[in-house]
Amino acid sequence: MKQLKTPLVVLNFKTYIEATGKNAVRLAEMCSDVSRDAGITIIAVPQPSDIRPVAETGIPVFAQHIDGASAGGSTGHVLAEAVRDAGAIGTLINHSERRLTLAEIDAAIQAARRTGIATIVCSNNIATTKAAAALKPDFVAIEPPELIGTGIPVSTADPGIVSGAVDAALGIDPDVPVLCGAGISKGEDMAAALKLGAEGVLLASGIVRAPDPKAALMDLVSGI
Ligand code: G3P
Repeated sequence: MKQLKTPLVVLNFKTYIEATGKNAVRLAEMCSDVSRDAGITIIAVPQPSDIRPVAETGIPVFAQHIDGASAGGSTGHVLAEAVRDAGAIGTLINHSERRLTLAEIDAAIQAARRTGIATIVCSNNIATTKAAAALKPDFVAIEPPELIGTGIPVSTADPGIVSGAVDAALGIDPDVPVLCGAGISKGEDMAAALKLGAEGVLLASGIVRAPDPKAALMDLVSGI
């Protein structure tokens, strides 16, 4: 896996219509422009069907999910090789909206390693952050589910969970950096996250649903 330059901005396109199909490509082109102008790594996380066209814009792409399945008889599963060949350089695993068991998280990390793509394992509390860090992904992310999509930034509304996750991951494996997410949209949210020891943020609605997504993203990166 090529080393990703931190701080990272990871924009999850989720299943928002504003970030699906042609809209996904438009959003990715905008991310590319901001990334180039600001010199910040911005990762786009589109739905599986949009990975290839979004990757063709030149922005680094992560899948939203992969399964631990091997090639062959695994109908309906998301194969690590498939997202890699479509252009993804990494994947989220265990997002709060796509939760897995610990055994499934481990299998998905193994599948990502097998194919050489990077992993961000999401966690909903500090105990899960610890379990995730023990599996040695490339990053863990802490996202309290009750703040997701609310516009209330985790980095100011619940700073203890961010610094707690950073300390917890450090105690398990100092080589696993921590990202945080939920309700992040502004430069000041980003700055607060970095101050708490996070090495980047995961975000969605504050940019995808903003009246002017480019202005919103430029404001966000101004906090770095
Ligand atoms: O993966 C990022 C996400 O769950 C945070 O969503 O809409 O609160 O920025 P949002």
